[in-house]
Amino acid sequence: MKISLINASPKMGDSNTGFLLDALARHIAAGHALHRHNLGRGKGFPAEILREIAADDAIVLGFPLYVDALPSSLTALLIALEDCLKTESRHDRTVYAIINNGFYEGRQTCIAFEIVQNWCERAGVKFGGGIGQGADETIGILQKKKVPWRVWPFGRTERALIALARTMEEGAPFGIRYLTPAFPKFLFCFLATHFFWHPLAKKNGLHIKTLPKKENILMRTMHDPENL
Ligand SMILES: Cc1cc2nc3c(=O)[nH]c(=O)nc-3n(C[C@H](O)[C@H](O)[C@H](O)COP(=O)(O)O)c2cc1C
Repeated sequence: MKISLINASPKMGDSNTGFLLDALARHIAAGHALHRHNLGRGKGFPAEILREIAADDAIVLGFPLYVDALPSSLTALLIALEDCLKTESRHDRTVYAIINNGFYEGRQTCIAFEIVQNWCERAGVKFGGGIGQGADETIGILQKKKVPWRVWPFGRTERALIALARTMEEGAPFGIRYLTPAFPKFLFCFLATHFFWHPLAKKNGLHIKTLPKKENILMRTMHDPENL
């Protein structure tokens, strides 16, 4: 079987999407041909790459959730790919998606899954479902520190990726699995504030004490939305 894994994160260098796709690739049995493509921030793929993707039996769209939807570079790619898929009239190709998002709940990706499903219908390919992973910046942080997948808190993500690999090899539909990490939301908020947002603010020359409080931002917006 020929499988395309498309990383549609606009990030340069390491991306959370890339970590998920790398893990999926490791679980796909030897003997299947894997074609890896990085979309990045470029102007899409040349025609020969589009034709190669359209000729594969399974296509995995890996991407970060952007404002509840798809990064615009991916939307442009899907529009270009649609024509290639329609030209090759086959009805046995399946498209899966691995969507990751910054908020805690993987279910936030449900609208993006609907968009991918609608596109599949239009392009004449089968929609195979996939994985909607929440709190994915945490995965990125742990992966950079070489923490193995199978340990807490992302063991269930690894199990879902293994199940997805087996399902893809059969060309069967996977359904949609929405995943959250195995720790409570308050801990996620604490870690995100103190180990992500505050260091990021400092790196950009901001002082934590001078950052406006959430309540103040809300009040200001209610009284004067222009003032946000
Ligand atoms: C422009 C932009 C819009 C985003 N919109 C959302 C969103 O609507 N919901 C969400 O949970 N995360 C959102 N995020 C967070 C990303 O989905 C999240 O950080 C993701 O893990 C990045 O993956 P990557 O490293 O593969 O690019 C957004 C990030 C950016 C930069």
